[in-house]
Amino acid sequence: MKIAIFNGGPRKNGRTASVTASFKKFTETRNAVTEEHFLYFMDIKGCLTCGTKTGIESARAMAKEFSECDLAVLASPIYMFHITDSLKAFMEILCAVCKDDDDVAEKVKGKKVAAIFTTDVDENVATDAIRAARMLCDHVHAEFIGELVIPFADMEKINGKECQTEIEQFTDEVMKK
Ligand SMILES: Cc1cc2nc3c(=O)[nH]c(=O)nc-3n(C[C@H](O)[C@H](O)[C@H](O)COP(=O)(O)O)c2cc1C
Repeated sequence: MKIAIFNGGPRKNGRTASVTASFKKFTETRNAVTEEHFLYFMDIKGCLTCGTKTGIESARAMAKEFSECDLAVLASPIYMFHITDSLKAFMEILCAVCKDDDDVAEKVKGKKVAAIFTTDVDENVATDAIRAARMLCDHVHAEFIGELVIPFADMEKINGKECQTEIEQFTDEVMKK
């Protein structure tokens, strides 16, 4: 099974990246081949207008990665009550690429998509982010199969047994769907 993680967080050693690293590790012990893409460090900007897209080459490459995996995972810290700009830009470009590239659009149809979010407060603050991930899936005809929200995220909690078990259970859940 090929899994691709699209992480919009700007901190490669941050909380979201710690959660995705654990998720990646658990998927690999279950024989998946998992790659994580750190969108913040790529030249991916959102659409300006239809037909005018910036950073389109790296964006197109990421859209291709999305289309070619068995499971795509959208990951982000919650910033200002929503996903990060980097993840949003990728989602915008993915929609645009699906619109003008039939091959990508066809492969994205029915694609299993999950999401991972970390927040400083309770999980309710991730409501809009989850909704955005679901709406993206509806728009590109992918299948949203579940989210993992780690509220009150800090390193101690993330590395603790309870949280690691939660991440492992989420891994099992999404890999079985
Ligand atoms: C600019 C900024 C905005 C944030 N906005 C929120 C927010 O609206 N709600 C929330 O719960 N946490 C918010 N946070 C906290 C982060 O979501 C939280 O600390 C997250 O786990 C950080 O993940 P990271 O280490 O991967 O960046 C914000 C943090 C930053 C830097």
